[in-house]
Amino acid sequence: MADTILTLEEYARIAAWFVSYTNGFRDGGGTLPGPLRFKLAHSGRVASNAARIAAGLGLGEGECAVARAAGLLHDVGRFRQFSCHASFIDARSLDHGLEGRRVLEEKAAGLFPDAVIFRRLLCATEFHNRRPDALPKDLPLADNSLLLLVRDADKVDIMETLLGSAESGDFRGLQDTIPDIKLEGGLTPGVAEAAARGETLSLKNLNTLADILVMVAGWFHDLNYAPARRVAAERGFLQRLRRLLPGDNPVLDALFADLARTASSPGAKYTGI
Ligand SMILES: [Fe+2]
Repeated sequence: MADTILTLEEYARIAAWFVSYTNGFRDGGGTLPGPLRFKLAHSGRVASNAARIAAGLGLGEGECAVARAAGLLHDVGRFRQFSCHASFIDARSLDHGLEGRRVLEEKAAGLFPDAVIFRRLLCATEFHNRRPDALPKDLPLADNSLLLLVRDADKVDIMETLLGSAESGDFRGLQDTIPDIKLEGGLTPGVAEAAARGETLSLKNLNTLADILVMVAGWFHDLNYAPARRVAAERGFLQRLRRLLPGDNPVLDALFADLARTASSPGAKYTGI
């Protein structure tokens, strides 16, 4: 595995490009629409999570910078998605992963000194939002490893954000991502059972905040790397999710016991270049 993949100067140029690209979505007074402000902040946190997971895997500084860049750029397609469709719902607008790939190909190719790094970043951006069963099976190992890392970093931030909102009752940052979800009300029948069978829940089948919390809990099965599972454990995600859900529910008890076992099991191996 090569150690130095992206220099810190190269990363700084990529980060500066991202800032200037997103500045293009500000209005005449310099203000970014609220939903895009939320995505910009999310991108920064996913970059930090990605770098932390990469460091936890023992990767060198250059590969950590690749991971940080992939985290920063993964949602770049959100900006055109929202400005063209006023929606973050892919099914009603566009696939924001694929759109992100297009943006990077159009506007950011010159920032990447190495074609392989760029290819890996494009792959992580394009596929970060796919359901696990819809991921391509024939990716080069190094591309797949980075993709799995970005997916982990993204999930950790969404879990943290959702938990913060559910605990504080402030859903302002999430209202454009889950506009049809009722904040009141219990679990929709069958949702906990489907999660307990290990099925990946889809947003379009969910109705209440409780359903979303169960979906997010199920993501523990999809956290690929041990450092991501450790971060989730350190932040008490499972316990916090369980506290927000109905207490007297044996299906949920069994689901969370199973998730706790997953959270402490060894994760996937990372293969760089
Ligand atoms: Fe995304």
